[in-house]
Amino acid sequence: MARAFRPIFSAGNAPPLRGLAARRSFSAGDAPPLRALATRPIFSAGNAPPLRGLAARRSFSAGDAPLNTVLILGSTRAKRIGGKVGAYLEAKLEERGGHAVTVLDPRTSQDGFFMRLMEKAYFHYRDDEVAPPALEATAALLRSADAIVVASPEMNHTISPGLVNLMNYFGSSVYARKPSGIATYSAGMWGGARCGVALRAYLSELGCLPVSATFQLPGAFRPGTFDETTGMLAADTAAAKSADRMLEQLEWHARAMRAARADA
Ligand SMILES: Cc1cc2nc3c(=O)[nH]c(=O)nc-3n(C[C@H](O)[C@H](O)[C@H](O)COP(=O)(O)O)c2cc1C
Repeated sequence: MARAFRPIFSAGNAPPLRGLAARRSFSAGDAPPLRALATRPIFSAGNAPPLRGLAARRSFSAGDAPLNTVLILGSTRAKRIGGKVGAYLEAKLEERGGHAVTVLDPRTSQDGFFMRLMEKAYFHYRDDEVAPPALEATAALLRSADAIVVASPEMNHTISPGLVNLMNYFGSSVYARKPSGIATYSAGMWGGARCGVALRAYLSELGCLPVSATFQLPGAFRPGTFDETTGMLAADTAAAKSADRMLEQLEWHARAMRAARADA
């Protein structure tokens, strides 16, 4: 049964959008007049105007149901800081509310199935072949996701191999037309910014479009970074603020895209 839902979509070959586009009409009148725009300040990435006002003006019919949010961890290391980063992001999502969170952790999910390097992608199983239950279950989880958050350490200025190994099993048929939030961390002072740049291209290729704001946590291993009791970052840190900015954007896009998918 799952096979029927598993067409292979390569880059830029996601399910056609024509139906959607035909039903929604974006008239020129919807765009803000240019003059008004020009007088507004220039917002850099992650510094967009608050979404609350906009969100309030749009009505998302499916907006009341919690978002199915999948948090994918990237570290496979035995002694990792990634567990704390993941727990923080999960707590943050719970704190914000409106999310049903599932964590995909290569070390623990599906009995560690994703700790092995990929031998065969899920989308390469033919209709007459049986895919491993771990892949079927994970595909179903990703298919039902409204939003995806990836939490990757920076490794050699790019994405952790554990995250890529897990995500590569699946194609845009499970990821496309959904937003993603990029969360990176590192030992260094840039908080995994270069990994974030790589993730932006990677997630875009999957059609899992990254929102502009990113969570970045430098010096993640430093004692005192996470509160010893709550596991949280101090609310006034740049990293904590970047988490809120990223998640606020993710939520808006997830609701909008869920409504659009339901419409298609
Ligand atoms: C193979 C490897 C490459 C790394 N490359 C970088 C890097 O390019 N930039 C950086 O800031 N930190 C780098 N680090 C440090 C990691 O970001 C840091 O150890 C982080 O805590 C790893 O995440 P984890 O503890 O969740 O596994 C690297 C670590 C490893 C193991």
